[in-house]
Order: sequence, then C-alpha cells, then structure tokens
Amino acid sequence: MVKASAPGKCILFGEHAVVYGEPALACSINQRMTIELEHEHMIEAWRLDGRKFNPKKHPHIEYIRNKLHSSTGNPLHIRIRGTIPKASGLGSSAALSVALCGALQQLHNGSANKAQASLLAHHAEAAAQGGRASPMDTATSSYGGFIVLSDTIEEHLDFIETRTMDVDGSTRQWHLHTFEAAVPEGTALVVGNTGTHGSTSAMVNHVAELMRKNSSRKVELETIGAIARRGIQAFREGDMEAVGQAMTENHIVLRSLGVSSPELERLIRAAAPSSLGVKMTGAGGGGCMIALTTNPEETMGAIEMEGGRAFISTFNEPGLRIEDAV
Ligand code: PMV
Repeated sequence: MVKASAPGKCILFGEHAVVYGEPALACSINQRMTIELEHEHMIEAWRLDGRKFNPKKHPHIEYIRNKLHSSTGNPLHIRIRGTIPKASGLGSSAALSVALCGALQQLHNGSANKAQASLLAHHAEAAAQGGRASPMDTATSSYGGFIVLSDTIEEHLDFIETRTMDVDGSTRQWHLHTFEAAVPEGTALVVGNTGTHGSTSAMVNHVAELMRKNSSRKVELETIGAIARRGIQAFREGDMEAVGQAMTENHIVLRSLGVSSPELERLIRAAAPSSLGVKMTGAGGGGCMIALTTNPEETMGAIEMEGGRAFISTFNEPGLRIEDAV
C-alpha cells in the first residue's frame, strides 16, 4: 500500500491580471487530498473507491495512470480522501493529480519527485480542460509554500523553472518562482467559502471582453501587477500590515473589474473588521474569499454568521508528501 497527499491552494495576489502577464502569488493551504494505492489479489480491473474505475469520468486519473503505470502493470485500487471543497477555486483537482503522481512514483521508483509531479499534473489538468491550464495550482500543490508565476524572470525571487505549453495554437510560457516568507507567529489565513460556484472561463471571458471594449482598462491589470509585487515584497519582509493592505487593494481592483459577487462581498464585509486584509481568491463570481488575520477565530465566526463556511489555514504548508509506503 502507498499513500501520498498534496495540498490545495489559494491565490493571494494577481488572479486575472496573470492571464495578461502580470505576476501572481499563490500559497498552499492546510487542506489536502490523499491518494491510497493498493494491490489487491482478487481484482482484474482498476477500482476507484470500491467501484470499477471509469476513465471517462476521471480524465486526470486516466492521463496520469497512462503515463506512470504501464498497461501491463497489475490493476490497482485507488482510494481518494480529502478535505478540499470541490469547484471552489482551492485547487482540489490539481491536488488530486499531484497526489496520484506522487503515489505512483513511490510505487514504481521508491520515491516521489515534485518537479515531475508538477509537470505531469499540469499536463493532466490541461488535457482535462481542453488544453487550457496555467501551472499555478499544480506547482503550488507539488512544491507547497509560496509560488509566483510571471511572464518575466523576477530577479528578487528564487527561480524554479520555466514552463511552456501550446495553448490554442500558440506557445505560452510561465516562469515559476518561490521565496522564503518571514510570516510572524500568530498570523493566519482564514478561507471563507460562499458555497456558490463561479465559472473560471466565464470570468476570464468577462475580463477579456472588458479589455476588448476599452483598452484603457488595461491600467487596472497593471495596477494589480504593481500591488502583487508590493505584496510579495511585504511577505518577504514579514510586514503583515502591508500584506493585508495590498490584499484589500487587490480586491478593490478585482471588484471594479466585475469579478466579485454579492455573496463574496457579504463575507468580505463581515471579515474585514477583524482582519489585516481581505479579498476574493481565484476566478470569482462565487467560490472563496480569504482574510489575513491575527484573530482567526473571530474572523471565522464573522464569516459563519454571514452564512459562509470557514476554516483557518497556516502558511508554508508542505507540498507533495508520501504518507505511507508498506
Ligand atoms: O479559480 P481558480 O483558482 O482556478 O483561479 C483562476 C485564476 C485566473 O487568473 C482567473 C485564471 C488563470 O488561468 O490564471
């Protein structure tokens, strides 16, 4: 039996603007997906949580299985466990893909390889999403901690790798970085889930339409980029007041782009008084918001009073991890 786990993520700065080349910062959260693989003597076909595995229903798993487990290998029983809410912008499918890569690597090679898991899980996401996927979720889930995506190599950050992928007939390129953050003890991230779901493609198309109609609105995307750079710098220095300030500013620009929602605004208003900073996270139109706070219980209570579901996360959560191998 082999067991591997990988964390979800949230976006601290730069969603939407990153589509236009501005930097974005994501961090791992303390909610994880766990994959268990078991050889069972009696089974003749792959099984998923006790049922026959249906590749059409699980394209990510099918993609990774084909890459990392030869068709002549024994069928396995895959068990999925996890605490990351689905379709809420917290990267549950990326975490699942990364954990599965790790578990299969452990089974075949005796160890997990984060760089290979990050690459393969990114390709699995792209294959399942019509060829379109940025490496943000899968890289954050594989490496853990803080991941910065940018269209240039950011000099003050630790460069990890450059990723290229053909998207809609043209080659896209992302530079991935990380950095050490001096987050003071007692500072936490509270994630609030509205329980509503926004569509990433609808939100991305909405912003594209705004830019097409009025190109002067590109200033808003550049503003998000400038805020993201300032927020990253503040993280590196451990200046949480400045990080919070930048998060709130980032949200104001996202709201002006029209990607927030009444439900997100309600949770953000509730969390703001007890927080250093608040913003929506991910594509928007629903999904989750985040609050940087030194009073996590109070912030969580305020979000729940408004009908949201909340949990407290910490920073520097580890990436892909082998939990068990016997
Ligand atoms: O909702 P999520 O977590 O999948 O994030 C989408 C982030 C966007 O910037 C809106 C789109 C993208 O591809 O980067």
